[in-house]
Amino acid sequence: MKKNELIILKFGGSVITDKENPFTARIDVIDQLAREISEYKGKMIIIHGGGSFGHPIAHKYKIKEGYRETQQLVGFAETHLSMQKLNTIILQKLIKYGVPAVPVPPLSIIFSENGIIREMKCDVIEKMINMGFVPVLHGDTTLDEKIGFTIVSGDQIAAYLSMKLNAARLIFVLDVDGLYTNDPRKFPKAKLIEEIDVQTLKKMVNTFKGKRGVDVTGGIAEKVRWIIYAAERGTQVTLINGNVVGRLKGILRGEKAIGTYIYSKI
Ligand code: IPE
Repeated sequence: MKKNELIILKFGGSVITDKENPFTARIDVIDQLAREISEYKGKMIIIHGGGSFGHPIAHKYKIKEGYRETQQLVGFAETHLSMQKLNTIILQKLIKYGVPAVPVPPLSIIFSENGIIREMKCDVIEKMINMGFVPVLHGDTTLDEKIGFTIVSGDQIAAYLSMKLNAARLIFVLDVDGLYTNDPRKFPKAKLIEEIDVQTLKKMVNTFKGKRGVDVTGGIAEKVRWIIYAAERGTQVTLINGNVVGRLKGILRGEKAIGTYIYSKI
């Protein structure tokens, strides 16, 4: 483990929301994940995706594509508000179980350039984790140096923070067991990749296809790119299923659970 024992968790939008129904949170799953997190006492940052609170509305106003017309401004504001609503639901559950969770809206601390984080003010986040708080961020609308505004995914924020804060582990909590050779929802014969080193994963990146419902941030291939980004910089990356009770708790205790483990030689 690296000297900074920080764990970063990314909750995928498809595990915490019902991607088929707009603005529907999977309250029971969020409750369960919050309960499992409450048993972990180390430094942690949580980042969640948008699911049905983020993608459909961002898609409607074409926020990811950048600023073109003034009507988009209210769409941008609505998208951010919707993400904050989901953020509040997650914060409420975490606090209910005694986790000192505090919101950090990425819109207020990120400048992107063509959709890639150029600048992120991390000192507030660092101070929070050093004091024992658990900052909770999310994929968000951002102001962009080149295209006016856009969307930055929670995966990118998670990978960026892993690099910047030298995190020991980055754990993606999904609605499937991990990374598969093919989309397991469409191809029942798809195999779970239990272990893979980052160099092999890099060669395979373009073979990953698929997304669920409306997804403005690029689906599984884009996720894999951010996994590689974090793993190449020395963070141990794991993907697990958040629907299975106890899996996150096990991983946080340092146990080996079913999932995908990405190894790097760093
Ligand atoms: C998307 O974040 C945020 C918005 C659409 C505003 P993510 O790209 O991280 O969301 P999921 O995990 O794919 O749902």
